[in-house]
Amino acid sequence: MDVEKIDEIIDGYVDEEGVLIQILLDIQRELNWVPKEAIMEMSRRLQIPISQIYRVASFYTAMSLTPMGRHLVQVCLGTACHVRGAPKILNKVENTLKIKAGETTEDMIFTLRTVNCLGCCAMGPVMVVDEDYHGKMKTSDVNGILERYE
Ligand code: FES
Repeated sequence: MDVEKIDEIIDGYVDEEGVLIQILLDIQRELNWVPKEAIMEMSRRLQIPISQIYRVASFYTAMSLTPMGRHLVQVCLGTACHVRGAPKILNKVENTLKIKAGETTEDMIFTLRTVNCLGCCAMGPVMVVDEDYHGKMKTSDVNGILERYE
């Protein structure tokens, strides 16, 4: 039996994208972001074009191509939250942390993102810090909540 031939056939069926996602998620978990050097090393080891890895990494919001803060703050700007004052919450968070959505504080403690719906519209406006959901937010709640994570 020609083992090499069998390997060749099996290799052809390996789900390249599935493998890529798993490795990227592991790197994200380990480093809290996916650096360019990691993508270059993946490309070299897996013989997959850098552009393909970037395409996958930028598609998934669970992966970040820029350094992330220790805590991820997400403010929902979906319709239900928007009509209940989410833009004001976002504004307050931005002023408090002195960053805009999509940015990370200089001390690397917080990264701020906006999202379109967190699936708990009745609680709106909603802000999530890491895994903690804060519903019916008021601008006066923002400072107290963020202080808990500093
Ligand atoms: S719109 Fe904010 S949770 Fe659905």
